[in-house]
Amino acid sequence: MVAAFAQMREGNDPIKPNDNLNYAANFLYMLTEKEPEPLEARIFDACLMLHAEHTMNASTFSAMVTSSTLTDPYAVVASAVGTLAGPLHGGANEEVLLMFKEIGSLENVRPYIDKCIANKQKIMGFGHRVYKVKDPRAKILQQLAERLFELTGYDDYYEMALEVEKVVTDRLGHKGIYANVYFYSGLVYRKLGIKPDLFTPMFAISRVAGWLAHWKEQLAVNRIFRPTQVYVGERNISYIPIEEREQL
Ligand SMILES: CC(C)(COP(=O)(O)OP(=O)(O)OC[C@H]1O[C@@H](n2cnc3c(N)ncnc32)[C@H](O)[C@@H]1OP(=O)(O)O)[C@@H](O)C(=O)NCCC(=O)NCCS
Repeated sequence: MVAAFAQMREGNDPIKPNDNLNYAANFLYMLTEKEPEPLEARIFDACLMLHAEHTMNASTFSAMVTSSTLTDPYAVVASAVGTLAGPLHGGANEEVLLMFKEIGSLENVRPYIDKCIANKQKIMGFGHRVYKVKDPRAKILQQLAERLFELTGYDDYYEMALEVEKVVTDRLGHKGIYANVYFYSGLVYRKLGIKPDLFTPMFAISRVAGWLAHWKEQLAVNRIFRPTQVYVGERNISYIPIEEREQL
């Protein structure tokens, strides 16, 4: 669906799958109409595996809450996709590339990062709700990126990425903030010729396996999610008719 969408939005017909290719190579072929190099296909396959499942992250939690109502699996995936799309979760890899674009040059890395830190602005592709060390998936992706750049040629973005990681680690490493999986995945996808607005869908085509595995597990022991809440607002206030309320 994602490969067909990418073709159709350019006014082209979807490309039929080639049964001689494996899943990863076939996806790249259907996306670009070009058979990928074996290393490109191998790297994309590794990306799919690295993103397929990652315990109780935000989108998987959404999937489980939706599953618990016994709705259909399409709705389960749709709610997970909605959660994944946010920039603090799966949308981060697209944001990382926008950041490199904004930085623009190697010399601008340090001033840019300094400015983000001074303004308490999050640096995309860094930090993790659970990992307080470099995300192990980022280490693998970095090695894959390195091999891909060797094959297809280094560019400014890779140099900038290494410098951004060095500066952020120097400045924020003491707070347990290191590169996460998205920091290098955007670079890899870009090098594979994938457009930035398809980065989050790349994540989704892989993570759908994890979401649906959790869906099945949830159904096996299902009870509807219904968290309690703690009210911390004002009490004993009187009702004001809407026309008498102050305009906000
Ligand atoms: C992933 C993320 C949401 C985890 O958040 P969290 O564990 O709840 O951490 P918090 O947002 O509470 O941040 C804790 C502290 O670290 C800082 N911090 C966390 N991530 C940061 C980042 N990427 N850049 C700069 N500072 C960051 C916060 O500003 C905060 O500092 P403070 O204590 O001085 O106020 C967060 O690191 C983030 O927004 N990262 C950028 C987006 C991203 O790459 N998301 C993909 C995650 S895999």
